[in-house]
Amino acid sequence: MFTKQSLVTLLGGLSLALAQTSSEEYPSLAEIAAKQASVQPFSPVSNVAGLSFDRFVNIWLENTDFDVAAANTHLAELAKKGLLLSNFWAVTHPSEPNYCASAGGDTFGMDNDDFHQLPSNISTIADLFDTKKIAWGEYQEALPYPGYQGYRYPESGDNVYVRKHNPLILFDSVTNDATRLRQIKNFTTFYEDLEHERLPQYMFITPNMTNDGHDSNITVSGAWTYNFLSELLENDYFTKDTLIMLTFDETDTYEIGNNVFTFLLGGAVPDDLRGTKDDTFYTHYSVIASLSANWGLPSLGRWDCGANLFSWLAEKTGYVNYDVDTSNLYMNQTHWGPLSDDDYSEYYAGWPAPLTEGTCSSGNGILSAVKKTWKDLTATFNYTSPFPYDSRSGNNVGVKYSRTLKNGKVESGVSR
Ligand SMILES: *[C@@H]1O[C@H](CO)[C@@H](O)[C@H](O)[C@H]1NC(C)=O
Ligand SMILES: *[C@@H]1O[C@H](CO)[C@@H](O)[C@H](O)[C@H]1NC(C)=O
Ligand SMILES: *[C@@H]1O[C@H](CO)[C@@H](O)[C@H](O)[C@H]1NC(C)=O
Ligand SMILES: *[C@@H]1O[C@H](CO)[C@@H](O)[C@H](O)[C@H]1NC(C)=O
Ligand SMILES: *[C@@H]1O[C@H](CO)[C@@H](O)[C@H](O)[C@H]1NC(C)=O
Ligand SMILES: *[C@@H]1O[C@H](CO)[C@@H](O)[C@H](O)[C@H]1NC(C)=O
Repeated sequence: MFTKQSLVTLLGGLSLALAQTSSEEYPSLAEIAAKQASVQPFSPVSNVAGLSFDRFVNIWLENTDFDVAAANTHLAELAKKGLLLSNFWAVTHPSEPNYCASAGGDTFGMDNDDFHQLPSNISTIADLFDTKKIAWGEYQEALPYPGYQGYRYPESGDNVYVRKHNPLILFDSVTNDATRLRQIKNFTTFYEDLEHERLPQYMFITPNMTNDGHDSNITVSGAWTYNFLSELLENDYFTKDTLIMLTFDETDTYEIGNNVFTFLLGGAVPDDLRGTKDDTFYTHYSVIASLSANWGLPSLGRWDCGANLFSWLAEKTGYVNYDVDTSNLYMNQTHWGPLSDDDYSEYYAGWPAPLTEGTCSSGNGILSAVKKTWKDLTATFNYTSPFPYDSRSGNNVGVKYSRTLKNGKVESGVSR
């Protein structure tokens, strides 16, 4: 989103990007046309049964405070058909670090919407899915061709597609692989994949900058969501054993807690929970942890490690979620790291090291590539915490959490 710092951020972003790969940030129209003519979308299919759902559809709208979204009649009507997650939190501001977090389990200190490329030794959810050959994909409205890596499209005029809302394109471990790139597709391909029953088991859906509310408002994004989902909810192939999540990247107001309006829909919402609300504390990282718990996948060893699981999934696996006292929690800025512009976090050149030993909420260990790459380093942050915090900068410290284990033992503490 555009903030007071937008000009500074934009200028900082441009120089950084030019130093990296200017050819990719703004490819020529000829280059785009050539790719459009030659790059074919790739739609792998898999059928790996999950504990609670067989498909997860992650749909993100933009920049809206909880109360504003809850008051939208279209969203309220949809939420009533599913399960409202009333205590679901975005992890920072602005947009891009939240999208990055949804794929990489961390913000890496990002406090801006610059052109970023995360090094190939940073693992993502794509690596988790690949351990069991679970087909994944992204559908980004108006992406000109599969795997387009430019900063935006079209390159002038209104922003329609933007890279900052495309989680997996930020990671070299994805973009270095031509096949993976072809799994990042547009809405035209979404409807083709739907028609041919070749949708992946995990998909991330980003509407264009009007439909997601970024350049419009909740009336527009609520109506888009209602129209988009109403048709799909009637489609048995789409909804059967599917969990659809509608959430927001972040609140619009920076000074309040980053609790975003979120609900689950689809055939996999447990019957007894339909039409109710769940006030368990969740974050964008809880989605990664819940996907891992559902399909028996390892953790990235980052903030997904300690994240709470969807409550009914936790009951199935035996994991006990934490209660987090959010009265003192904002989650409106992030810890230090190499992607910081020194706006809402502190720049520090080193890449944070993930956890390589230990137990994570999803209960299936840590990804072997993460263990192998980072084994000699101590985890930079306390990734077993149910919410991100950083002692050095004082980010999200002073927050109380507790849980009562099945044997009656109480575990509690304060982030510091
Ligand atoms: C979407 O992707 C397809 C397949 O690559 C391409 O043919 C089409 O032009 C793209 N559509 C839009 C609206 O960009
Ligand atoms: C966004 O998509 C909608 C249809 O899905 C289209 O009507 C609209 O023109 C698009 N927005 C822009 C700015 O192109
Ligand atoms: C939202 O945007 C639409 C389309 O531009 C406009 O008609 C409507 O008045 C706006 N609503 C609010 C509450 O600003
Ligand atoms: C986060 O919220 C606190 C409390 O309102 C505020 O002091 C701080 O400036 C906010 N951070 C950002 C980045 O807006
Ligand atoms: C990860 O990659 C970055 C960038 O190339 C490099 O600076 C860092 O040393 C690497 N870390 C490990 C543990 O491989
Ligand atoms: C890390 O977080 C966990 C869970 O909140 C907590 O039990 C543990 O004490 C924390 N470790 C440190 C070193 O603060």
